[in-house]
Amino acid sequence: MFTHAHYQEAVNAIRSFTSLQPTIGIVLGSGLGGLADMLQDRVSIPYSAIPHFPTSTVHGHSGELVIGKLGGKVVAVQKGRAHFYEGYNLYQVTFPIRVMHFLGIKTVILTNAAGGINSSFKAGDVMMLNDHINMVGFVGLSPLSGPNDDELGPRFVGLVQTYDRHLRQLTHEVAQANNIPLQEGVYCCLGGPTYETPAEARMFRIIGADAVGMSTVHEVIVARHMGIKVLAFSSITNMVIDNLNTDYETNHEEVLEVGRIIVPKLITILKGVVERL
Ligand code: HPA
Repeated sequence: MFTHAHYQEAVNAIRSFTSLQPTIGIVLGSGLGGLADMLQDRVSIPYSAIPHFPTSTVHGHSGELVIGKLGGKVVAVQKGRAHFYEGYNLYQVTFPIRVMHFLGIKTVILTNAAGGINSSFKAGDVMMLNDHINMVGFVGLSPLSGPNDDELGPRFVGLVQTYDRHLRQLTHEVAQANNIPLQEGVYCCLGGPTYETPAEARMFRIIGADAVGMSTVHEVIVARHMGIKVLAFSSITNMVIDNLNTDYETNHEEVLEVGRIIVPKLITILKGVVERL
């Protein structure tokens, strides 16, 4: 577990690179790193230069914190994230969100790559999260387990108002104004790194999931613990396979390739939302 001294060391290292004071944080998932190029006056800080920051070992996650301007606001963009399946614990996976809080960030926008469960979705869609199902949490793994730090947030955290209603409304307005079709739904978080079996895919549909992936939810929980507002998006990079009558396997190359196609749509949405914040 980390202490305030660890968070402060990371904040001090970041502040030594730039005097810009971000108020909005953005986390970019698989294949979405290109989004960081939209920032003006940007400074890139390698995760290796930030004490305790977990570096991603996954292809498609470059490992830089980019601070710069977007839509007139100062934002801090995590280009790549660490995942539970890489062997990091959930305190490490969510360390950058704690650091964002100590940097002064009040709103965080998270993105990920996900498989589509809802049969009305197709690869290339953008889904805004309105709720989640945390399969990792069901087995007792939480980034909030252990002694609670009352200075950061409460012991018990309500998750009904997780994906901010006002931000979601704003996002629909931006998507509509730019003619970008926007799906909305429930994200289901797996531990990974295996993709779902067809039987699991059918189960996820029955329990109310619209998309499935291997990240985001732990970061969302830690953000809500500290009262940070949350908005989150899945890039639907593939539709999950729910039957055995196929030779096809879901694969990371496809996830990255389709992710790159979705980047321009997400840039328009994120820029529009940040401008209106
Ligand atoms: N399942 C889980 N995670 C994913 C998928 C998927 O089908 N696609 C991209 N990330």
